[in-house]
Amino acid sequence: MAENIMNLDTVALDEEKHALVILDQTLLPNEIKLLSLTDQKDIWEAIYLLRVRGAPAIGVAAAIGVYLAARDIEEDSYDGFYSRFLEAKEYLASARPTAVNLFWALDRMERVVVEHRHLPVADIKQRLHDEAVAIKNEDIEVCRAIGEHGLSLIQDGDGILTHCNAGQLATVKYGTALAPIHLGRERGYQFKVFTDETRPLLQGARLSAFELSENGVDTTVICDNMASQVMKNGWVQAVFVGCDRVAANGDACNKIGTSGVAILAKHYGIPFYVCAPTSTIDMEIKTGEDIPIEERPAHEVTEMWYKKPMAPKGVKVYNPAFDVADHNLITAIITEHGIVHPPYRENLRALFDAGKQAQHV
Ligand code: MRU
Repeated sequence: MAENIMNLDTVALDEEKHALVILDQTLLPNEIKLLSLTDQKDIWEAIYLLRVRGAPAIGVAAAIGVYLAARDIEEDSYDGFYSRFLEAKEYLASARPTAVNLFWALDRMERVVVEHRHLPVADIKQRLHDEAVAIKNEDIEVCRAIGEHGLSLIQDGDGILTHCNAGQLATVKYGTALAPIHLGRERGYQFKVFTDETRPLLQGARLSAFELSENGVDTTVICDNMASQVMKNGWVQAVFVGCDRVAANGDACNKIGTSGVAILAKHYGIPFYVCAPTSTIDMEIKTGEDIPIEERPAHEVTEMWYKKPMAPKGVKVYNPAFDVADHNLITAIITEHGIVHPPYRENLRALFDAGKQAQHV
């Protein structure tokens, strides 16, 4: 394991091989392996199987993926090209339902096609390339800005609890919820981070703990059911989590278990911050009730991390991948444009009305 993952881009476009390059997150923390994907089925599967995961990283992967699909379309007429583009777009959009960044990025790519319909198909392909690269580069800027705003809310030496992985591995660089910690580390701050292991896919134990340790951050893994004890001990001054979709009223959908952490934080009087690039805020969705929650296969709960199945064969399993933290539990939503406080319906609307959103179609 020669590479330090903090020096790698989690998602990238290989310009020479015309491939989507991702760090295979299913192998972490034991193996650092870059995958070079050209086939649309492999890109779809990489998103579905969480080889690439985390809302912003999924968005960037989809943008690059649909560009690669477009590049291979052998159609000279605009109509023929556009209809094949739409097929490729719909296919990638079907990989996962909850993170709005997937649809946001694909819609943004479609807009490039529509807006340049007067150009030859070859030129449209070039614009799609440029847009995919822009989406990737913007992600780095956005995460850095979220990190700066988040850092302004905490003190050197604070204990921070996080759930799932909303770090560098979930974005191109820095992450969202872990960006304040990585930036603080650059400036010599010493945070003490508690990462919930995050059942069932263990993004906290496998990924957050890994990237934080690689970056020299004081990191302690706890099982999900230990968060209350750690908070009661007075070891947590703030909770930072990411999100997959924020509704217009501020309800925030994130990895399963997040709402429980928010309830605990409220109980113990600990600020609960949701880090949300504006590309993750879906103003079309009024409340969290309307956010589609992905359900995943039973074996992720009963077998995946065990030598032998740890539940009786055939037992019923409920495996929702996400839940929604009610807006009343959220102290603030940290976007790239600044920190949004309640009332969220009004204040998120004001942010978007001021043109401060990521480009939505
Ligand atoms: O199922 P995952 O691992 O893709 O879920 C990821 C999360 O819930 C993250 O917290 C969220 O996508 C934000 S990533 C910056």
